[in-house]
Amino acid sequence: LFAGETEFVKGVVAMSGLPPADRIEVCFAGRSNVGKSSLINALTGHKNLARASNTPGRTQEINFFTMGNHGYLVDLPGYGFANAPLPVVEKWQRLLKQYLSGRQTLRRAFVLIDARHGVKSVDEEIMSLLDSAAVTFQAVLTKTDKVRKSDLEKSLDISRKALSKHPAAFPELVLTSSEKGDGIATLRSIIAGLE
Ligand code: GTP
Ligand code: MG
Repeated sequence: LFAGETEFVKGVVAMSGLPPADRIEVCFAGRSNVGKSSLINALTGHKNLARASNTPGRTQEINFFTMGNHGYLVDLPGYGFANAPLPVVEKWQRLLKQYLSGRQTLRRAFVLIDARHGVKSVDEEIMSLLDSAAVTFQAVLTKTDKVRKSDLEKSLDISRKALSKHPAAFPELVLTSSEKGDGIATLRSIIAGLE
């Protein structure tokens, strides 16, 4: 589905810059540094298509990638702490919220959660926004290679409880490691099944 068919389309800094809503799209939301860009790279089999880095706040635009003719993959700026000037952060946070609540063709949002921590209050805020906008979302635990089994169980527990309060949430979580490739095939087939 993805191999060799992915291309960067554009980076968007205002709603007026969004590409025409002429195909489906899925987006990747989550706290800064949770691994959104890395997950897109893993899904598409590219090393640095979506630029990832250890500096929270790396992605500051809404980045659109094609997945063949199937639709768009959308890499979002993170929320929560970011290593960037406040006015800049506020601007992209506003855009993020506008996008999540106002994009007709958005079929599913993947909300990425660090497997070491589970769902945090900022995640719940975004989840409530998605509830209000009636955008179906699915939680994806990231960096599972970095977590001990007992801590993973704890994060899963916290996350399942949080998800159960959100009507727009899919009950099943996807466990991933962009580093090791775990869960990537599962996520690909979920995306491939969307119309
Ligand atoms: P922002 O754009 O700043 O919001 O961050 P992001 O969510 O796009 O995170 P990014 O993909 O840039 O990854 C942040 C850091 O986490 C990088 O140093 C990645 O190498 C690392 N990382 C991402 N996914 C994994 C993973 O599955 N395992 C491990 N061990 N590290 C990961
Ligand atoms: Mg990023």
